[in-house]
Amino acid sequence: MTAAPGASSLSLDHLTRRFATHTAVDELSLEVSPGEMVVLLGPSGCGKTTTLRMIAGFIAPHAGDIRLDGSSIVALPPHRRDMGIVFQSYALFPHLSVARNIAFGLEMRRAGTAATNARVTEMLRLVRLDAFATRLPRHLSGGQQQRVALARALAIHPRVLLLDEPLSNLDAALRQDMAREIRLLQRGRGITTIMVTHDQTEAMALADRLVVMHDGKVQQIGPPEALHLRPANPFVARFIGGSNVVQGRIDAGTRLVLADGPALALAAAYHGAGHCATGHVAASHAIAAATLAVRPDSIRLAEPGRREARTEGTVELCTWLGATLEHVVRLSPGVAILARGPGLGPDAAPRHAAGTRVSLHWSASDEFLFDAGDRPVAADAPHFTAAHVPPPDFTSPPFTPPSCTPPNCTPPNYTRPTSPRPT
Ligand SMILES: Nc1ncnc2c1ncn2[C@@H]1O[C@H](COP(=O)(O)OP(=O)(O)O)[C@@H](O)[C@H]1O
Ligand SMILES: [Mg+2]
Repeated sequence: MTAAPGASSLSLDHLTRRFATHTAVDELSLEVSPGEMVVLLGPSGCGKTTTLRMIAGFIAPHAGDIRLDGSSIVALPPHRRDMGIVFQSYALFPHLSVARNIAFGLEMRRAGTAATNARVTEMLRLVRLDAFATRLPRHLSGGQQQRVALARALAIHPRVLLLDEPLSNLDAALRQDMAREIRLLQRGRGITTIMVTHDQTEAMALADRLVVMHDGKVQQIGPPEALHLRPANPFVARFIGGSNVVQGRIDAGTRLVLADGPALALAAAYHGAGHCATGHVAASHAIAAATLAVRPDSIRLAEPGRREARTEGTVELCTWLGATLEHVVRLSPGVAILARGPGLGPDAAPRHAAGTRVSLHWSASDEFLFDAGDRPVAADAPHFTAAHVPPPDFTSPPFTPPSCTPPNCTPPNYTRPTSPRPT
Protein backbone atom coordinates (compact mmCIF):
# COMPACT_ATOMS: atom_id res chain seq x y z
CA MET A 1 0.00 0.00 0.00
CA THR A 2 1.57 3.29 -1.14
CA ALA A 3 -0.29 6.41 -0.13
CA ALA A 4 -0.20 9.42 -2.43
CA PRO A 5 1.16 12.59 -0.82
CA GLY A 6 -1.83 14.14 0.93
CA ALA A 7 -3.96 10.98 0.68
CA SER A 8 -6.83 11.02 3.16
CA SER A 9 -7.76 8.82 6.07
CA LEU A 10 -11.37 7.86 6.64
CA SER A 11 -12.88 6.84 9.92
CA LEU A 12 -16.31 5.27 10.46
CA ASP A 13 -17.39 5.34 14.08
CA HIS A 14 -20.34 3.16 15.14
CA LEU A 15 -22.20 4.03 11.96
CA THR A 16 -25.86 2.96 12.13
CA ARG A 17 -28.71 3.23 9.64
CA ARG A 18 -32.23 1.86 9.90
CA PHE A 19 -35.02 1.54 7.33
CA ALA A 20 -38.31 1.42 9.26
CA THR A 21 -37.66 -1.28 11.86
CA HIS A 22 -34.84 -2.95 9.93
CA THR A 23 -31.27 -2.06 10.91
CA ALA A 24 -29.40 -2.09 7.59
CA VAL A 25 -26.04 -1.05 9.10
CA ASP A 26 -25.43 -1.75 12.77
CA GLU A 27 -22.66 0.15 14.61
CA LEU A 28 -20.07 -0.25 11.87
CA SER A 29 -16.63 0.99 12.91
CA LEU A 30 -13.66 1.06 10.55
CA GLU A 31 -10.41 2.99 10.18
CA VAL A 32 -9.14 3.34 6.60
CA SER A 33 -5.53 4.50 6.27
CA PRO A 34 -4.34 6.95 3.61
CA GLY A 35 -3.86 5.10 0.32
CA GLU A 36 -5.47 1.91 1.60
CA MET A 37 -7.96 -0.17 -0.37
CA VAL A 38 -10.62 -1.65 1.86
CA VAL A 39 -13.26 -3.97 0.44
CA LEU A 40 -16.67 -4.44 2.09
CA LEU A 41 -17.68 -8.01 1.35
CA GLY A 42 -20.92 -9.78 2.15
CA PRO A 43 -24.07 -11.30 0.68
CA SER A 44 -26.76 -9.22 -0.97
CA GLY A 45 -28.69 -7.11 1.53
CA CYS A 46 -26.00 -7.09 4.25
CA GLY A 47 -25.68 -3.29 4.20
CA LYS A 48 -22.71 -2.62 1.89
CA THR A 49 -24.36 -0.07 -0.41
CA THR A 50 -26.05 1.64 2.53
CA THR A 51 -22.62 2.09 4.13
CA LEU A 52 -21.20 3.54 0.93
CA ARG A 53 -24.17 5.87 0.50
CA MET A 54 -23.70 7.19 4.04
CA ILE A 55 -20.00 7.84 3.33
CA ALA A 56 -20.89 9.61 0.08
CA GLY A 57 -23.56 11.68 1.83
CA PHE A 58 -26.63 10.45 -0.09
CA ILE A 59 -28.26 9.18 3.10
CA ALA A 60 -27.72 10.26 6.69
CA PRO A 61 -26.77 7.85 9.46
CA HIS A 62 -29.13 7.52 12.44
CA ALA A 63 -26.13 7.25 14.73
CA GLY A 64 -22.36 7.36 14.54
CA ASP A 65 -19.83 9.58 12.84
CA ILE A 66 -17.81 9.72 9.61
CA ARG A 67 -14.47 11.53 9.76
CA LEU A 68 -12.27 12.49 6.84
CA ASP A 69 -8.71 13.30 7.97
CA GLY A 70 -10.05 13.60 11.49
CA SER A 71 -12.91 16.03 10.75
CA SER A 72 -16.55 14.97 10.86
CA ILE A 73 -18.27 15.20 7.47
CA VAL A 74 -21.77 13.94 8.39
CA ALA A 75 -23.23 17.42 8.13
CA LEU A 76 -21.70 18.09 4.68
CA PRO A 77 -23.69 17.60 1.44
CA PRO A 78 -22.26 15.05 -1.06
CA HIS A 79 -20.57 17.61 -3.34
CA ARG A 80 -18.55 19.01 -0.44
CA ARG A 81 -17.15 15.64 0.63
CA ASP A 82 -14.72 15.31 -2.31
CA MET A 83 -15.54 11.67 -2.96
CA GLY A 84 -15.30 10.02 -6.37
CA ILE A 85 -18.07 7.47 -6.81
CA VAL A 86 -18.51 4.62 -9.27
CA PHE A 87 -22.04 3.23 -9.05
CA GLN A 88 -23.00 -0.36 -9.78
CA SER A 89 -24.93 0.78 -12.88
CA TYR A 90 -22.13 3.31 -13.78
CA ALA A 91 -24.87 6.01 -13.97
CA LEU A 92 -23.24 7.72 -16.97
CA PHE A 93 -25.15 10.63 -18.50
CA PRO A 94 -26.55 9.01 -21.68
CA HIS A 95 -26.80 12.28 -23.63
CA LEU A 96 -23.23 13.40 -22.87
CA SER A 97 -20.11 12.24 -24.71
CA VAL A 98 -17.36 10.32 -22.95
CA ALA A 99 -15.31 13.51 -22.55
CA ARG A 100 -18.29 15.50 -21.22
CA ASN A 101 -19.12 12.74 -18.76
CA ILE A 102 -15.56 12.85 -17.44
CA ALA A 103 -15.61 16.66 -17.33
CA PHE A 104 -18.91 16.81 -15.43
CA GLY A 105 -17.56 16.95 -11.87
CA LEU A 106 -14.91 19.49 -12.84
CA GLU A 107 -17.49 21.74 -14.51
CA MET A 108 -19.70 21.53 -11.41
CA ARG A 109 -16.68 22.68 -9.40
CA ARG A 110 -15.99 25.47 -11.94
CA ALA A 111 -12.47 24.23 -12.55
CA GLY A 112 -12.02 26.46 -15.63
CA THR A 113 -11.97 25.37 -19.28
CA ALA A 114 -8.21 24.92 -19.70
CA ALA A 115 -7.81 22.95 -16.46
CA THR A 116 -10.89 20.84 -17.24
CA ASN A 117 -9.73 20.00 -20.76
CA ALA A 118 -6.24 19.09 -19.53
CA ARG A 119 -7.64 16.86 -16.81
CA VAL A 120 -10.09 15.15 -19.21
CA THR A 121 -7.23 14.41 -21.62
CA GLU A 122 -5.18 12.98 -18.77
CA MET A 123 -8.08 10.80 -17.60
CA LEU A 124 -8.86 9.57 -21.13
CA ARG A 125 -5.24 8.48 -21.45
CA LEU A 126 -5.28 6.88 -18.02
CA VAL A 127 -8.23 4.63 -18.86
CA ARG A 128 -7.08 4.17 -22.48
CA LEU A 129 -10.14 5.76 -24.09
CA ASP A 130 -8.37 8.58 -25.96
CA ALA A 131 -9.96 7.47 -29.21
CA PHE A 132 -13.49 7.47 -27.74
CA ALA A 133 -13.75 11.02 -26.38
CA THR A 134 -16.71 12.00 -28.57
CA ARG A 135 -18.70 8.76 -28.33
CA LEU A 136 -21.96 8.48 -26.42
CA PRO A 137 -22.05 5.89 -23.60
CA ARG A 138 -24.54 3.65 -25.43
CA HIS A 139 -21.95 3.13 -28.18
CA LEU A 140 -19.42 1.72 -25.71
CA SER A 141 -18.98 -1.82 -24.40
CA GLY A 142 -19.64 -2.57 -20.72
CA GLY A 143 -15.94 -2.51 -19.91
CA GLN A 144 -15.47 0.84 -21.66
CA GLN A 145 -18.44 2.34 -19.84
CA GLN A 146 -16.94 1.13 -16.60
CA ARG A 147 -13.67 2.88 -17.45
CA VAL A 148 -15.53 6.14 -18.19
CA ALA A 149 -17.23 5.91 -14.79
CA LEU A 150 -13.85 5.36 -13.16
CA ALA A 151 -12.27 8.27 -15.07
CA ARG A 152 -15.19 10.54 -14.10
CA ALA A 153 -14.75 9.59 -10.44
CA LEU A 154 -10.98 10.15 -10.50
CA ALA A 155 -11.11 13.40 -12.49
CA ILE A 156 -12.07 15.52 -9.48
CA HIS A 157 -8.97 14.43 -7.48
CA PRO A 158 -11.20 12.76 -4.91
CA ARG A 159 -9.98 12.39 -1.35
CA VAL A 160 -11.67 8.99 -1.26
CA LEU A 161 -12.76 6.73 -4.11
CA LEU A 162 -15.98 4.76 -3.54
CA LEU A 163 -16.73 1.79 -5.80
CA ASP A 164 -20.07 -0.05 -5.55
CA GLU A 165 -19.86 -3.48 -7.23
CA PRO A 166 -17.94 -1.88 -10.11
CA LEU A 167 -17.37 -5.18 -11.90
CA SER A 168 -20.72 -6.89 -11.47
CA ASN A 169 -22.06 -5.94 -14.91
CA LEU A 170 -19.04 -7.31 -16.78
CA ASP A 171 -18.52 -10.83 -18.08
CA ALA A 172 -16.08 -13.07 -16.23
CA ALA A 173 -12.96 -12.54 -18.38
CA LEU A 174 -13.39 -8.76 -18.53
CA ARG A 175 -14.04 -8.67 -14.80
CA GLN A 176 -10.61 -10.10 -14.08
CA ASP A 177 -8.92 -7.63 -16.45
CA MET A 178 -10.79 -4.69 -14.95
CA ALA A 179 -10.06 -5.87 -11.40
CA ARG A 180 -6.35 -5.79 -12.22
CA GLU A 181 -6.72 -2.37 -13.85
CA ILE A 182 -8.54 -0.92 -10.85
CA ARG A 183 -5.91 -2.31 -8.50
CA LEU A 184 -3.01 -0.92 -10.55
CA LEU A 185 -4.71 2.45 -10.86
CA GLN A 186 -5.54 2.60 -7.18
CA ARG A 187 -2.05 1.50 -6.13
CA GLY A 188 -0.34 3.75 -8.69
CA ARG A 189 -2.27 6.80 -7.53
CA GLY A 190 -2.17 5.80 -3.85
CA ILE A 191 -5.78 6.82 -3.45
CA THR A 192 -7.81 5.85 -0.38
CA THR A 193 -10.53 3.53 -1.67
CA ILE A 194 -13.56 1.67 -0.36
CA MET A 195 -15.00 -0.94 -2.67
CA VAL A 196 -18.13 -2.98 -2.17
CA THR A 197 -18.65 -6.45 -3.59
CA HIS A 198 -20.44 -9.73 -2.90
CA ASP A 199 -17.77 -11.61 -4.87
CA GLN A 200 -15.19 -13.26 -2.65
CA THR A 201 -12.55 -13.79 -5.36
CA GLU A 202 -12.81 -10.18 -6.51
CA ALA A 203 -12.50 -8.98 -2.93
CA MET A 204 -9.45 -11.13 -2.23
CA ALA A 205 -7.76 -9.91 -5.42
CA LEU A 206 -8.27 -6.23 -4.71
CA ALA A 207 -8.23 -5.62 -0.98
CA ASP A 208 -5.47 -4.51 1.35
CA ARG A 209 -8.02 -5.35 4.02
CA LEU A 210 -11.42 -7.02 3.89
CA VAL A 211 -14.46 -6.17 5.98
CA VAL A 212 -16.83 -9.14 6.00
CA MET A 213 -20.42 -8.06 6.73
CA HIS A 214 -23.57 -10.02 7.53
CA ASP A 215 -26.99 -8.61 8.50
CA GLY A 216 -25.58 -5.09 8.84
CA LYS A 217 -22.87 -6.18 11.25
CA VAL A 218 -19.12 -6.47 10.77
CA GLN A 219 -18.03 -10.10 11.17
CA GLN A 220 -14.27 -9.72 10.76
CA ILE A 221 -11.75 -7.15 9.47
CA GLY A 222 -8.29 -8.05 8.24
CA PRO A 223 -5.98 -8.78 5.31
CA PRO A 224 -7.44 -11.43 2.96
CA GLU A 225 -4.87 -14.03 3.97
CA ALA A 226 -5.58 -13.58 7.69
CA LEU A 227 -9.32 -14.09 7.15
CA HIS A 228 -8.66 -17.10 4.95
CA LEU A 229 -6.30 -18.73 7.45
CA ARG A 230 -8.03 -17.70 10.67
CA PRO A 231 -11.76 -17.06 10.20
CA ALA A 232 -13.40 -15.49 13.26
CA ASN A 233 -16.67 -17.39 12.99
CA PRO A 234 -18.50 -19.97 10.83
CA PHE A 235 -20.00 -17.26 8.60
CA VAL A 236 -16.56 -15.93 7.63
CA ALA A 237 -15.27 -19.49 7.17
CA ARG A 238 -18.11 -20.18 4.75
CA PHE A 239 -17.90 -16.85 2.94
CA ILE A 240 -14.10 -16.73 2.59
CA GLY A 241 -12.82 -19.94 1.09
CA GLY A 242 -16.26 -21.56 0.91
CA SER A 243 -15.64 -23.84 3.87
CA ASN A 244 -17.75 -26.87 4.59
CA VAL A 245 -19.55 -26.06 7.83
CA VAL A 246 -21.07 -28.83 9.96
CA GLN A 247 -22.64 -28.71 13.39
CA GLY A 248 -22.53 -31.32 16.10
CA ARG A 249 -21.43 -31.99 19.63
CA ILE A 250 -17.88 -32.45 20.84
CA ASP A 251 -17.32 -35.83 22.42
CA ALA A 252 -14.25 -36.37 24.63
CA GLY A 253 -12.55 -33.40 22.99
CA THR A 254 -11.64 -35.53 19.99
CA ARG A 255 -14.81 -36.27 18.03
CA LEU A 256 -17.57 -34.20 16.52
CA VAL A 257 -20.82 -36.16 16.62
CA LEU A 258 -23.15 -34.82 13.93
CA ALA A 259 -26.83 -34.36 14.65
CA ASP A 260 -27.95 -37.16 12.35
CA GLY A 261 -25.51 -39.79 13.45
CA PRO A 262 -22.00 -40.00 12.06
CA ALA A 263 -18.98 -38.87 14.07
CA LEU A 264 -15.88 -37.14 12.71
CA ALA A 265 -12.47 -37.77 14.25
CA LEU A 266 -11.09 -34.28 14.75
CA ALA A 267 -7.54 -33.64 13.58
CA ALA A 268 -6.65 -31.84 16.80
CA ALA A 269 -7.84 -32.34 20.38
CA TYR A 270 -10.05 -29.75 22.11
CA HIS A 271 -10.04 -30.58 25.80
CA GLY A 272 -9.97 -26.90 26.64
CA ALA A 273 -12.97 -26.15 24.48
CA GLY A 274 -13.96 -22.54 24.98
CA HIS A 275 -10.71 -21.65 26.73
CA CYS A 276 -9.69 -18.93 24.30
CA ALA A 277 -12.86 -17.11 23.56
CA THR A 278 -15.00 -17.61 26.61
CA GLY A 279 -12.41 -17.73 29.33
CA HIS A 280 -13.74 -20.95 30.78
CA VAL A 281 -12.12 -24.34 30.45
CA ALA A 282 -14.55 -27.14 29.95
CA ALA A 283 -14.02 -30.41 31.75
CA SER A 284 -11.85 -32.85 29.92
CA HIS A 285 -14.65 -35.02 28.63
CA ALA A 286 -17.31 -32.34 28.32
CA ILE A 287 -19.76 -32.60 25.46
CA ALA A 288 -20.51 -29.23 23.95
CA ALA A 289 -22.29 -27.98 20.85
CA ALA A 290 -19.76 -26.93 18.24
CA THR A 291 -19.40 -26.04 14.59
CA LEU A 292 -16.58 -27.36 12.43
CA ALA A 293 -15.36 -25.58 9.28
CA VAL A 294 -12.95 -27.13 6.76
CA ARG A 295 -12.16 -25.61 3.36
CA PRO A 296 -12.81 -27.86 0.34
CA ASP A 297 -9.20 -27.52 -0.80
CA SER A 298 -7.98 -28.85 2.56
CA ILE A 299 -9.78 -32.17 2.15
CA ARG A 300 -8.07 -35.15 0.53
CA LEU A 301 -9.94 -38.30 -0.40
CA ALA A 302 -8.59 -41.85 -0.23
CA GLU A 303 -9.89 -45.40 -0.22
CA PRO A 304 -11.98 -46.36 2.83
CA GLY A 305 -10.65 -48.17 5.88
CA ARG A 306 -7.69 -45.86 6.51
CA ARG A 307 -6.81 -45.59 10.21
CA GLU A 308 -6.06 -41.85 10.06
CA ALA A 309 -9.34 -40.98 8.31
CA ARG A 310 -11.45 -38.17 9.76
CA THR A 311 -14.58 -39.90 8.49
CA GLU A 312 -15.96 -41.85 5.53
CA GLY A 313 -18.67 -41.17 3.02
CA THR A 314 -20.07 -41.98 -0.41
CA VAL A 315 -19.14 -39.94 -3.49
CA GLU A 316 -22.25 -38.33 -4.91
CA LEU A 317 -20.70 -36.25 -7.66
CA CYS A 318 -17.26 -36.05 -9.28
CA THR A 319 -16.69 -32.93 -11.41
CA TRP A 320 -13.50 -32.17 -13.34
CA LEU A 321 -13.13 -28.42 -13.91
CA GLY A 322 -9.71 -28.37 -15.57
CA ALA A 323 -7.41 -26.88 -12.95
CA THR A 324 -9.46 -28.41 -10.15
CA LEU A 325 -11.29 -31.65 -9.43
CA GLU A 326 -14.32 -31.55 -7.12
CA HIS A 327 -16.10 -34.33 -5.26
CA VAL A 328 -19.31 -34.06 -3.31
CA VAL A 329 -19.19 -36.70 -0.58
CA ARG A 330 -22.30 -37.58 1.39
CA LEU A 331 -21.70 -38.38 5.04
CA SER A 332 -25.34 -38.68 6.09
CA PRO A 333 -28.78 -37.77 4.71
CA GLY A 334 -28.32 -34.24 5.98
CA VAL A 335 -24.59 -33.65 5.47
CA ALA A 336 -22.61 -33.48 2.22
CA ILE A 337 -19.00 -32.32 2.04
CA LEU A 338 -17.25 -30.64 -0.91
CA ALA A 339 -13.62 -31.66 -1.50
CA ARG A 340 -11.45 -29.91 -4.08
CA GLY A 341 -8.05 -31.01 -5.36
CA PRO A 342 -5.77 -30.24 -8.30
CA GLY A 343 -7.26 -31.42 -11.58
CA LEU A 344 -4.08 -31.46 -13.63
CA GLY A 345 -0.38 -32.24 -13.41
CA PRO A 346 1.68 -34.63 -11.33
CA ASP A 347 -0.20 -33.71 -8.15
CA ALA A 348 -3.65 -34.21 -9.68
CA ALA A 349 -6.11 -35.65 -7.16
CA PRO A 350 -7.37 -39.17 -7.89
CA ARG A 351 -10.88 -39.39 -9.29
CA HIS A 352 -13.53 -41.32 -7.42
CA ALA A 353 -16.68 -42.24 -9.30
CA ALA A 354 -20.16 -41.58 -7.91
CA GLY A 355 -21.22 -44.33 -5.54
CA THR A 356 -17.65 -45.08 -4.35
CA ARG A 357 -16.93 -45.23 -0.60
CA VAL A 358 -14.05 -42.92 0.35
CA SER A 359 -12.26 -41.76 3.47
CA LEU A 360 -11.82 -38.04 4.13
CA HIS A 361 -8.57 -36.55 5.41
CA TRP A 362 -7.44 -33.14 6.60
CA SER A 363 -4.83 -31.84 8.99
CA ALA A 364 -5.15 -29.94 12.26
CA SER A 365 -4.08 -26.62 10.76
CA ASP A 366 -6.97 -26.87 8.26
CA GLU A 367 -9.75 -27.45 10.75
CA PHE A 368 -11.57 -24.60 12.52
CA LEU A 369 -13.79 -25.29 15.50
CA PHE A 370 -16.29 -22.79 16.95
CA ASP A 371 -18.28 -23.00 20.16
CA ALA A 372 -22.06 -22.62 20.55
CA GLY A 373 -21.60 -18.84 20.46
CA ASP A 374 -19.68 -19.11 17.14
CA ARG A 375 -16.41 -18.13 18.83
CA PRO A 376 -13.16 -19.90 17.83
CA VAL A 377 -12.10 -22.78 20.05
CA ALA A 378 -8.37 -23.32 20.49
CA ALA A 379 -6.94 -26.77 19.97
CA ASP A 380 -4.93 -28.31 22.80
CA ALA A 381 -1.81 -28.28 20.68
CA PRO A 382 -2.22 -27.16 17.09
CA HIS A 383 -0.64 -29.36 14.47
CA PHE A 384 -0.44 -32.27 16.89
CA THR A 385 -2.61 -35.02 15.58
CA ALA A 386 -3.19 -38.07 17.68
CA ALA A 387 -4.32 -39.95 14.61
CA HIS A 388 -1.24 -38.96 12.59
CA VAL A 389 1.46 -39.24 15.24
CA PRO A 390 2.05 -42.33 17.35
CA PRO A 391 1.49 -41.82 21.07
CA PRO A 392 4.64 -40.43 22.70
CA ASP A 393 6.89 -42.76 24.66
CA PHE A 394 6.77 -41.33 28.17
CA THR A 395 9.41 -43.75 29.47
CA SER A 396 12.26 -42.36 27.39
CA PRO A 397 13.27 -38.66 27.16
CA PRO A 398 10.37 -36.40 28.21
CA PHE A 399 7.90 -35.59 25.49
CA THR A 400 7.82 -31.94 24.51
CA PRO A 401 4.56 -30.63 23.13
CA PRO A 402 4.76 -28.67 19.89
CA SER A 403 5.41 -25.00 20.53
CA CYS A 404 3.10 -23.58 17.88
CA THR A 405 0.52 -21.34 19.56
CA PRO A 406 -2.32 -19.54 17.80
CA PRO A 407 -2.29 -15.75 18.18
CA ASN A 408 -4.20 -14.33 21.14
CA CYS A 409 -4.55 -17.72 22.75
CA THR A 410 -2.99 -19.12 25.85
CA PRO A 411 -2.91 -22.84 25.30
CA PRO A 412 -4.44 -24.84 28.11
CA ASN A 413 -2.20 -27.29 29.92
CA TYR A 414 -1.05 -29.94 27.53
CA THR A 415 -3.18 -33.01 27.88
CA ARG A 416 -1.88 -36.40 26.98
CA PRO A 417 -3.60 -37.31 23.71
CA THR A 418 -6.31 -39.89 23.76
CA SER A 419 -5.82 -42.81 21.47
CA PRO A 420 -6.65 -44.79 19.54
CA ARG A 421 -8.94 -42.61 17.47
CA PRO A 422 -12.29 -43.84 16.25
CA THR A 423 -12.27 -44.43 12.55
N1 LIG B 1 -34.12 2.98 0.63
C1 LIG B 1 -34.38 1.87 1.31
N2 LIG B 1 -35.57 1.65 1.89
C2 LIG B 1 -35.85 0.55 2.60
N3 LIG B 1 -34.95 -0.45 2.80
C3 LIG B 1 -33.73 -0.30 2.24
C4 LIG B 1 -33.38 0.85 1.47
N4 LIG B 1 -32.09 0.71 1.05
C5 LIG B 1 -31.67 -0.48 1.53
N5 LIG B 1 -32.65 -1.08 2.24
C6 LIG B 1 -32.55 -2.38 2.93
O1 LIG B 1 -31.37 -2.37 3.74
C7 LIG B 1 -30.69 -3.60 3.66
C8 LIG B 1 -29.28 -3.38 3.14
O2 LIG B 1 -29.34 -2.97 1.81
P1 LIG B 1 -28.04 -2.65 0.94
O3 LIG B 1 -27.16 -1.75 1.73
O4 LIG B 1 -28.47 -2.17 -0.38
O5 LIG B 1 -27.37 -4.09 0.84
P2 LIG B 1 -26.16 -4.61 -0.08
O6 LIG B 1 -25.60 -3.47 -0.82
O7 LIG B 1 -25.22 -5.25 0.88
O8 LIG B 1 -26.79 -5.64 -0.99
C9 LIG B 1 -31.54 -4.49 2.78
O9 LIG B 1 -32.35 -5.27 3.59
C10 LIG B 1 -32.34 -3.52 1.96
O10 LIG B 1 -33.55 -4.07 1.56
MG1 LIG C 1 -25.48 -3.16 -2.93
